[in-house]
Amino acid sequence: MLRTIDSLGELSGKTVLLRCDLNVPLKDGEITDDGRVRASVPTIRELLDAGARVVAMSHLGRPDGAPDEKYSLRPVATRLAELLGEEVAFGAPGTARVTLLENLRFDPRETSKDDAERMSFAEELASHGDVVVSDGFGVVHRKQASVFELETLRPSAAGRLVETELGVLERLTRTPDKPYTVVLGGSKVSDKLGVIDALLPKVDRLLIGGGMLFTFLKAQGHAIGKSLLDEDGLAEAKRYLDEAAARGVELVLPTDVVVAERFSADARHVVASADAIEDTEFGADGLGLDIGPQTADRFAELIRASTTVFWNGPMGVFELAPFAAGTRAVAEALTQVSGLGVVGGGDSAAAIRQLGFRDDQFGHVSTGGGASLEFLEGKKLPGLEVLGWQQ
Ligand code: 3PG
Ligand code: MG
Repeated sequence: MLRTIDSLGELSGKTVLLRCDLNVPLKDGEITDDGRVRASVPTIRELLDAGARVVAMSHLGRPDGAPDEKYSLRPVATRLAELLGEEVAFGAPGTARVTLLENLRFDPRETSKDDAERMSFAEELASHGDVVVSDGFGVVHRKQASVFELETLRPSAAGRLVETELGVLERLTRTPDKPYTVVLGGSKVSDKLGVIDALLPKVDRLLIGGGMLFTFLKAQGHAIGKSLLDEDGLAEAKRYLDEAAARGVELVLPTDVVVAERFSADARHVVASADAIEDTEFGADGLGLDIGPQTADRFAELIRASTTVFWNGPMGVFELAPFAAGTRAVAEALTQVSGLGVVGGGDSAAAIRQLGFRDDQFGHVSTGGGASLEFLEGKKLPGLEVLGWQQ
């Protein structure tokens, strides 16, 4: 059983060490998507209301185990203070009720492969507080000092965000209401092997878009021009096509794609049939950057006709306006699902916000990309097991 904040007893006067996932995208020092900061606020408020002081901590990006201004959490401390309407001390605990420590990954021991090194860092962190609340759902798949060892050194429990995320993911894995559709995008088939394996027996339909669709088209024997090919995933893509057919799962591939002359927002582009990508004016140089309009309509229709939908990975290069339509169509359809429509973290969460959707238009927007996928794969998640949770 997952231990929750309620198991920690009286918190008044105590200092809570709070592991969050405040790993947000930054551009020129500005936060471009503050979703993870906003998602961390309810637990912090609850702890403050209970009379606790909070020492929050997180990683940001993947610095080299040494301080690097590019990866500083300072802009996040500023944003957190705005959202809380409360002073936030940065770096070291001061007089404020809330402190945010600097990027944990500035210390190489946080991510060390050596158990003793991680433990020594965890002991230092533990010295700042009395109890631990682990609320960084996006990082629970990592066995790192603040996610695993720290939780063994003090009374520890899951925060409200972790509880909510788990509740939703359990609905997706235990008894999803049918029809159940999963939409996968992103660039590499090889990153999604585990989740496709785990989901094929459970879903009614699997829709494939994003960069990895071209590996599937190639596996079907089509020419794909200069589009992304994941050589390592090719054999697996063939196997999935056969397995889906054998299981009666509809594995839905695009019938048309947007093909560009090159990778650029102002590149010339045309819509091509998925089996004739090299027949456009760009010939074998054509580069597929989005699903086509016919496919977008079909995907949207299948999503709307489903009761449970999980979506991970953009359908195309949504950051460039001419190639955002597929991702927008999937997002729009997901807002119309009558049952549970889940946006699975990372790039897809950033995509919906960048395209102007609000989180509350969806059943749930996860803060964990890799963590949600590994959960759906049925993998052991160290950061949850240490909190008493078992699959
Ligand atoms: C993420 O964004 O995937 C999480 O914050 C975990 O970060 P990581 O993949 O660098 O461990
Ligand atoms: Mg990641």
